[in-house]
Amino acid sequence: MKQLELDTIYHGDTFELIKSVPDKSIDLIVCDGPYGVTDYDWDKVTDIQTFNLELLKIFSRVLKPGGSMYLFGKENCLDFIDYRPYLNLNRKIIWYQPSRLAQGRLNYTNNYDIIAYFSKGKAKTFNLDDIRVPQLVELEHRLRCEKVPSVMNGQYGKTKFNTLGKNPGDVWGDIKQLTYKSKELISRELLNTIQKPERLIERLVKASSNPGDVILDPFAGVGTTAVVAKKLQRHCISFEINEDFVNLSKERVEDKEEKQAEFMWNIV
Ligand SMILES: C[S@@+](CC[C@H](N)C(=O)[O-])C[C@H]1O[C@@H](n2cnc3c(N)ncnc32)[C@H](O)[C@@H]1O
Repeated sequence: MKQLELDTIYHGDTFELIKSVPDKSIDLIVCDGPYGVTDYDWDKVTDIQTFNLELLKIFSRVLKPGGSMYLFGKENCLDFIDYRPYLNLNRKIIWYQPSRLAQGRLNYTNNYDIIAYFSKGKAKTFNLDDIRVPQLVELEHRLRCEKVPSVMNGQYGKTKFNTLGKNPGDVWGDIKQLTYKSKELISRELLNTIQKPERLIERLVKASSNPGDVILDPFAGVGTTAVVAKKLQRHCISFEINEDFVNLSKERVEDKEEKQAEFMWNIV
């Protein structure tokens, strides 16, 4: 079996390529594969839950103990499947997209994606300080509450808050899906179905890996995870079945390398 190289984007089918990844060799998996909701050939999956269960099975083998995996999908992506023999589900993160047009007539419009946060046993890395978000309204509210004596004992409470910000929680409405105007959008055809915002992937990578760690992106699209990994000094192995996307990803990573080199040059 061929040994895979770090920091490489491979063209091929994940279900074949994964066989070359050694057991317990990966710190983090960012799995943004088929959702089973569009007409794209790559997204056609008969039963998304069975498909996702298969992914959890094959990816749990390559994760190190304590390694993490984020699985993207729609609200039903894990319904009625037993993932527990493979990975622990720590949280279902709701990626809320308030700008989406609410066009449903027969049901409530779906306004979110799921990002299911798994780990193999207890997660070994969770860098909360690297992903804190501003306290904003809550902070003002809590400060106001401190001036009100407790109804229980008449004492004034002292709220503890972290000046670095708060835990982002499990409903993320602060990171918007890319729009036609987004500078980072590679092509208009990739909107909504393919390309994810770098900020979103950055949050996952910062929280669940450290510099030097190895990340696997089994459905790389146009390489957002590889770009983010490069920027944050992590290693990344990417798989992508569409050759055009592989080429776009490589260009994107190289472009990032050049920009980073320019930046370093400017600050010296
Ligand atoms: C949602 S996109 C990933 C987008 C990516 N996160 C980004 O920001 O560019 C899913 C990708 O999985 C790829 N894909 C689907 N099935 C695959 C398979 N069996 N092996 C490898 N890649 C596959 C598709 O071609 C598509 O580009």
